[in-house]
Amino acid sequence: MDKFLIQGGHRLNGEVRISGAKNAALPLIAATILANTPITITNVPNLKDVNTLVKLIAGLGITISYDDSQVQADASTLNNQFAPYELVKTMRASILVLGPLLARYGEAKVSLPGGCAIGSRPVDQHLKALEALGASIEVENGYVHAKVDGRLKGGEVIFDMVTVGGTENILMAAVLADGITTIRNAAREPEITDLANMLVKMGALIDGIDTDTLVVTGVENLQGCEYAVVADRIETGSYLAAAAITGGCIRTTHTDPALLESVLEKFEEMGAEVTRGENWIELDMQGKRPKAVSFRTLPHPEFPTDMQAQVMAVNTIARGFSTISETIFENRFMHVPELSRMGANIQVEGNDAVVTGVEKLSAAPVMATDLRASFSLVLAALAAEGETLVDRIYHIDRGYENIEAKLQGIGAKIQRISE
Ligand code: EPZ
Repeated sequence: MDKFLIQGGHRLNGEVRISGAKNAALPLIAATILANTPITITNVPNLKDVNTLVKLIAGLGITISYDDSQVQADASTLNNQFAPYELVKTMRASILVLGPLLARYGEAKVSLPGGCAIGSRPVDQHLKALEALGASIEVENGYVHAKVDGRLKGGEVIFDMVTVGGTENILMAAVLADGITTIRNAAREPEITDLANMLVKMGALIDGIDTDTLVVTGVENLQGCEYAVVADRIETGSYLAAAAITGGCIRTTHTDPALLESVLEKFEEMGAEVTRGENWIELDMQGKRPKAVSFRTLPHPEFPTDMQAQVMAVNTIARGFSTISETIFENRFMHVPELSRMGANIQVEGNDAVVTGVEKLSAAPVMATDLRASFSLVLAALAAEGETLVDRIYHIDRGYENIEAKLQGIGAKIQRISE
């Protein structure tokens, strides 16, 4: 199992090129199922999760290739609608093939994704929404079996809570449904906008993009196109946090400040100097110790849950104390015991954490538990005195492309130990 060995205490300075967003690339690749003619997606990050979904799509009989950050797919060769547990269990976003398969082929058999470290993450909202469009859904032996005679029918969908995956699944189902579908309480994450923009380029009719109410007028078929994945706002925030925690100055390029304004405002509250360019963002901590910032995670455009662990890491060495409320997932504080091993002072009460900043963290062997928690441990190790060993970093490879090369490029003393 790979580990990272990190020598902390160095200010990080320099430039990081941001990759395409993992959480946009995954629904975009699922949407290739909908196209009647070949489709090309560019700026696709080279990640384990992306490779897993490409394998799953190929398993449907679709002709798909993925190399040099480009995915090309031709769904005309699809010969089955079965997404097996072996693949779905390793990457829960595989559930996103359910909507497109149902819309295009009238049937789908997709393994239930099961929970993961940060929570049970059910898909009840996905299924309820598909039933509202006329699908009959049976769940047995750990599989969702969805069917519809003829085409799905446009209808009213109201989500009980904001769900990114649920919104993506129903959007990909509605674009080929017969009639008009209204999706209320829709998620507004930039990755949803990216999916909607690509569907429109394929010929879909979608109103209300970027709002919490999407109105889709179904069409008979969709054509392929060429589309570039939006920049990864969470990768951007994660590297800017590396400047905040080490007192350095980092410029992230090939990104967009508008994607993470709520995070940039928190960095400014910490005392960082943040400069917003057209497709770059620079954070200069000017060697200062950050000021602690409190926040609650909420659906976009509020503070994203995927940045909670990273900003908590910065808070552990900040001046003063902060309160962090995690309102999206029920178990997303697993980085807390690991940070505490490095000397952080964090009290957790349910979904709230109170962090009292300390002068310095100290190196200690720690273990990654989930994707974003892994990055928060890397951040802490970059700031800590001494040499930290971070174990189980396969979690981090799921969501951060070329992480050690990007960190070494800004002066980090990090090396991967493969065992
Ligand atoms: C997406 O997960 C992201 N993953 C997550 O990023 C992100 O944390 C999350 O959205 C929230 O922003 C991808 O896009 C691949 P949800 P998703 O459906 O779609 C509950 C990362 O680190 N819920 O918005 O699974 C659910 O349990 C990952 O990159 C139901 O109860 O998240 C959660 O508490 C982690 N029933 C809340 O809603 C449902 O049917 C939000 O989940 C669906 C969701």
